Amino acid sequence: MNLLSKIYKKDKLEDIFTPNTIAKLTYINRSIVEKDLEKYLSLPGKQIIVYGHSGSGKTTLIRKSLNNKRQNFIKTHCESKTTFDDLLLQAFDDLNKFYIHEKNSNSQYSISAELKAEYAGLSSKVNETKNTSHEKKETRIVPIQLTPQKLAQFLGEINCVWLIEDFHKVAEIEKRRIADVVKIFIDTANDYKEVRIICIGAVATARELIELDNNLNNRVAELQVPLLSEDEISQIINKGFSLLNVNIDDSTKEKVVFYSNNLAAIAHQICFDLCFDSEIRSWSFFKRNIKTTSFKEAVNSYVRKNSDTFTKIYDTIIREPSGWNILKTFENSAKEMLSFNEIKNKIPKNKRIADEEMLTFLSQLQLPEYKEILRYDRSSQKYSLASPFFKAFLKMKFALEKTEHSNAIKTSDNRRNNKYSIDSSHTQDFNIDEDYFTSFNEILERLILESGAKSGRIRIKHTRRLK
Ligand SMILES: Nc1ncnc2c1ncn2[C@@H]1O[C@H](COP(=O)(O)OP(=O)(O)OP(=O)(O)O)[C@@H](O)[C@H]1O
Ligand SMILES: [Mg+2]
Repeated sequence: MNLLSKIYKKDKLEDIFTPNTIAKLTYINRSIVEKDLEKYLSLPGKQIIVYGHSGSGKTTLIRKSLNNKRQNFIKTHCESKTTFDDLLLQAFDDLNKFYIHEKNSNSQYSISAELKAEYAGLSSKVNETKNTSHEKKETRIVPIQLTPQKLAQFLGEINCVWLIEDFHKVAEIEKRRIADVVKIFIDTANDYKEVRIICIGAVATARELIELDNNLNNRVAELQVPLLSEDEISQIINKGFSLLNVNIDDSTKEKVVFYSNNLAAIAHQICFDLCFDSEIRSWSFFKRNIKTTSFKEAVNSYVRKNSDTFTKIYDTIIREPSGWNILKTFENSAKEMLSFNEIKNKIPKNKRIADEEMLTFLSQLQLPEYKEILRYDRSSQKYSLASPFFKAFLKMKFALEKTEHSNAIKTSDNRRNNKYSIDSSHTQDFNIDEDYFTSFNEILERLILESGAKSGRIRIKHTRRLK
């Protein structure tokens, strides 16, 4: 982009760092997963399950690839109570933009007059409602003609992909119906090459769908989207700050990489907060710096924002014996998965609980009452934190605790030093009491040790306290 167009159309902070929406301006290429996805998208009939941790970039990756391919798509979201009929209706509604409004399309299409009329006819039927007696609420009826086959035909006519987000959240029975529809879409590809379903799910959920039907095994591609590498997070930071024309020093950049814990969502959030706190809202011709205090404020803000979810669970866990140490062990460890002994040995002996008790506690941490923060893998017999967001939270929480602790010590030292300073400005506070002697004794010991270390002559192991 040349300078004139940059001045005319300044990039805005919220379009550069996008913690809650897909990345566009700071998008960094992920060659391996992008290439795999491109391959699957070019194979007619191949259905795709994309899975990975929340915040790993699944939606961003798919949307980017579909837009690059100029591929039309509709999207539906699942919640735990979503039924298959809800999904069918959501998908049907989303087709409105193609069949009724004829806008928002990536690729050109032409719809036969017959199918268009059929869509319009079904549309009025779909909007009829019925009262469900026991819940006393209105629900929409799925007309008998709106079958999954018909939906596949509506999609096929406009070369459209169906994105089903968070499929893992629905109940087992609804998952079975999704699996059935995936099979129908495989067949539809004989008439319409582009039509397909892409299911997006949480980490380790791809098998949940495929195992429901053996026929899906070879026709469904599983694509795992890993968390971003530290280098990829670094690239996002560089790209964003350069687009804003703002300096970021290496040390702050390293901190953002460390605390974001390989999650692009957190890196975007911290960078957004750093700029916002430094009153940077968009690109500017003159290079600017971020305020030195902004990093701590960004970390504080993340912890505050998560107080309802993570702080509550953190407080509950640290109230239990060994709780704080277990969390600290996971936070500190470079390894994602730890065995029972690895956890136990990292806990100081005086803070350790009995093995039995610890095993029970580790099992409890996998239950909903502890928000299932821990996972246990039977084959490796190792434990891991279920959410990388929780680990990122722990990194920040412990860092803030450490800062608070050292500030508290500093304040108490200062108070003490001021109180007992021989400097005349403090003489009105001067009291000879027990604290005075303790403090005097400490200073004396330090002086003797320092002079001993310098001359190499004096060694003091213990000095009797003055009273
Ligand atoms: N390749 C990328 N380059 C830059 N930023 C990215 C990239 N991928 C994802 N992000 C950013 O990471 C964050 C999370 O991305 P996204 O919403 O795609 O993740 P997700 O895996 O779909 O998460 P969820 O499972 O919670 O829906 C967003 O802030 C997005 O802007
Ligand atoms: Mg997503």
